[in-house]
Amino acid sequence: TAAVDVIRAKRDGAVLTDAQIDWVVDGYTRGAVAEEQMAALAMAILLRGFTPGELRRWTAAMIASGTRLDLSGVGRPTVDKHSTGGVGDKITLPLAPLVAACGAAVPQLSGRGLGHTGGTLDKLESIPGWRAAVPAEAFLAQLRDVGAVVCAAGERLCPADRKLYALRDVTGTVESVPLIASSIMSKKIAEGAGALVLDVKVGSGAFMRERADARALARTMVDLGTAAGVTTVALLTDMSTPLGHAVGNALEVAESVEVLAGGGPADVVALTLALAREMLDAAGLLDADPAAALRDGRAMDRWRRLVRAQGGDPDAPLPRAPHVAHVRADTDGVVGAVDAAGIGRAAWQLGAGRARREDPVSPAAGVLLRRRPGDRVRAGDVLAELHADDPARFAGPAGWVAEAVRVGPTAPPPAPLVLERI
Ligand code: URA
Repeated sequence: TAAVDVIRAKRDGAVLTDAQIDWVVDGYTRGAVAEEQMAALAMAILLRGFTPGELRRWTAAMIASGTRLDLSGVGRPTVDKHSTGGVGDKITLPLAPLVAACGAAVPQLSGRGLGHTGGTLDKLESIPGWRAAVPAEAFLAQLRDVGAVVCAAGERLCPADRKLYALRDVTGTVESVPLIASSIMSKKIAEGAGALVLDVKVGSGAFMRERADARALARTMVDLGTAAGVTTVALLTDMSTPLGHAVGNALEVAESVEVLAGGGPADVVALTLALAREMLDAAGLLDADPAAALRDGRAMDRWRRLVRAQGGDPDAPLPRAPHVAHVRADTDGVVGAVDAAGIGRAAWQLGAGRARREDPVSPAAGVLLRRRPGDRVRAGDVLAELHADDPARFAGPAGWVAEAVRVGPTAPPPAPLVLERI
């Protein structure tokens, strides 16, 4: 086989053979297929697509590029959640300890943020002492003892995807349902959990702005997981408005701790509970009562153990930004839509996110929404706080936040959070 034959075949709309797929993914992982060849193939896949059979084989080849974890020794049902990413999406933080408190084990291999959606590891790293790196032996022990691990994926988990995702990022080939689905699902299947709940976001702050596209991605991922023997369910959830009040690393940790303490914003609590119920059902724990575990402190107790197990101090004060600016309402009225894309961009520019993979993030920076859709305001009321390490960062974000939080004469229609289950 030659790489150029595989590229030509897909370019011309042929169905790739299993042997071609295995060869090209393995060759790329080892460096025998060049970056420019994989770039051309990724573009051909983006334009021509994959049959379901090609997609299953491609996903299997990505998994086989590294090692698939064996979690059979954990001693309780394993279940994970994956979100396609949204603004203020801190749900993993309360969810993993909550599900662990209800009897499942949650092996959550997470990523760092790129662009306007934050990464779970960036958020947790704002906790003094907390470490994202967990060695393989400690990973299994922590899953057994605490019931949850949230850590960085090791080098051996889908190395083909690590290379390919970085390449797609710079070649205009991220936005392809088969490439996104195989990228996400290869990592999640290789992680070894018996069940998986996907939170596929729809709206201005999400990868998929249109519901039909999100549904197609969700179906494709559910089919891939099911075919690989993983019980897989997807919820399509709204991401036209940020989740909760806090967007930014330490700000989101603080809001998650409020949820674990039995308070917190209603939408964050509702989505945490909806995903917890799906995870517990998928794990076969049908009698678990996640609402009770939030109320009675069991989830909070797990959170504290989870943070400590990875070196963090759950009682340490979180970093706070030295500079805070306010965005105020200029008329009386009711807050209508709060545009997730605008808030995400503002938080990112304030320092909460990174433009390049190697950039640092500010733990303290971000946006704290003081008003949510449906809230009445008077002219001069604070709509949002901007937090930054350097006041020079306020200029752009102040305008974007003012534009994102619309104040009008009437309340917006209530928007459902969970749109569909697949
Ligand atoms: N997240 C991933 O891990 N891969 C993609 O292709 C897109 C989002």
